[in-house]
Amino acid sequence: MNYRHAFHAGNFADVFKHTILIGLLEALRAKPGAFCYVDTHAGRGLYDLRGDEATRTGESDEGIDRLLAADDLPAALRDYVERVRAGGAEDGDGELVAYPGSPLLARPLLREQDRAILCELQPEEAAALRTALRGDPRMAVHQRDGYAALKALLPPPQKRGLVLVDPPFEAQGGEYTAIQKALEEAFRRWPNAIYAIWYPIKKRETIVPFHRWLRNAPGDVLVAELLIHPDHSPLRLNGCGMAMVNTPWQFDQSIEAWLPTAKYLLTTDDGGEARLDWLRRS
Ligand SMILES: C[S@@+](CC[C@H](N)C(=O)[O-])C[C@H]1O[C@@H](n2cnc3c(N)ncnc32)[C@H](O)[C@@H]1O
Repeated sequence: MNYRHAFHAGNFADVFKHTILIGLLEALRAKPGAFCYVDTHAGRGLYDLRGDEATRTGESDEGIDRLLAADDLPAALRDYVERVRAGGAEDGDGELVAYPGSPLLARPLLREQDRAILCELQPEEAAALRTALRGDPRMAVHQRDGYAALKALLPPPQKRGLVLVDPPFEAQGGEYTAIQKALEEAFRRWPNAIYAIWYPIKKRETIVPFHRWLRNAPGDVLVAELLIHPDHSPLRLNGCGMAMVNTPWQFDQSIEAWLPTAKYLLTTDDGGEARLDWLRRS
């Protein structure tokens, strides 16, 4: 387990993933009943953009920084940028110097009655996450395998909720096997929850069996993808996708309203593409 999100925080994939995450949590908040947010791979919460890891890759320059520099963003991207500024940290000149990960972006969206279960396997990352959350009693940090946690902790007492699955994909194809095994159990235990599964796109062929498997999910399946390069090279991250089960009403239209702008701002060559497809719709 070598993956450290500090090398990638605020990159194009985080912009895409976190804008969707915020939209899903805002939809859950729109109804009064309590919800539970489950983050199977939560990370450390706050990422230093001036630290050694981030400056070595410079990935946020081509991610969040492009949105910070843009005018006239669609509402969802503007909301995302404001939440990043509020959840991260800025220097005296208003420059973003720390980027908030999924738990810190979710935190202000939780109400008194809502809860979060955050799993992080790396001891140092889990300890940093506990510090970043400063003992918020609504958010429980579990230093454990997020896949096993789905079996152990679902369903939560709250009837509604969201499960974000955001693995490092170090095991490449093996990660899909782990995701599918864990989700088969989760779907049985909590069939009406929203599920959002992030995946990297290198070569398209590697994703096809996962998409086929998703057609057996317990509800509608919407897939959004953002490519910043053509998807035929296995050597680099060409894009990423989010597969969503049981999406809120008209969530496809919400994504449609900002994804083309994200593509326009984040694409680095002419192979960029934004896709939105129903894999299954009842
Ligand atoms: C892509 S990062 C998560 C980023 C975070 N969700 C965000 O959006 O800010 C993946 C994280 O999963 C952790 N991890 C790796 N394997 C895990 C496992 N089996 N269970 C839980 N966490 C794991 C890694 O240490 C890493 O912090």
